[in-house]
Amino acid sequence: MATKPTYQFLVCASFRAKGEPKGVCNQKGSIGLSQYLEQEILDRGLDVLLTTTSCMKQCDQGPVLVVQPNNWWYQGVDSEEAIDDILDALEEGKPAEDRLLFPA
Ligand code: FES
Repeated sequence: MATKPTYQFLVCASFRAKGEPKGVCNQKGSIGLSQYLEQEILDRGLDVLLTTTSCMKQCDQGPVLVVQPNNWWYQGVDSEEAIDDILDALEEGKPAEDRLLFPA
């Protein structure tokens, strides 16, 4: 029987309608870092479904990563260090506060 993942990570891949401006997450390496993110998810044994998305309309703060169902939106996810911070915090059951786009 199939089960739902505990978390879904939404990684902005900047898909946009033709001609729309911005779309910078992909330009800043979100797709390349997704490979590192997927490997870290596996290495840590986290139950996460990684999904790439269209533009999440937060381009100026990109690359953007959203953790669901927690609704934690992260900005500036442009390095392995950023991903490590986010995953370290998740393993502790909390958001990486310093990287949140919409702090509580
Ligand atoms: S391209 Fe990522 S938020 Fe717009």
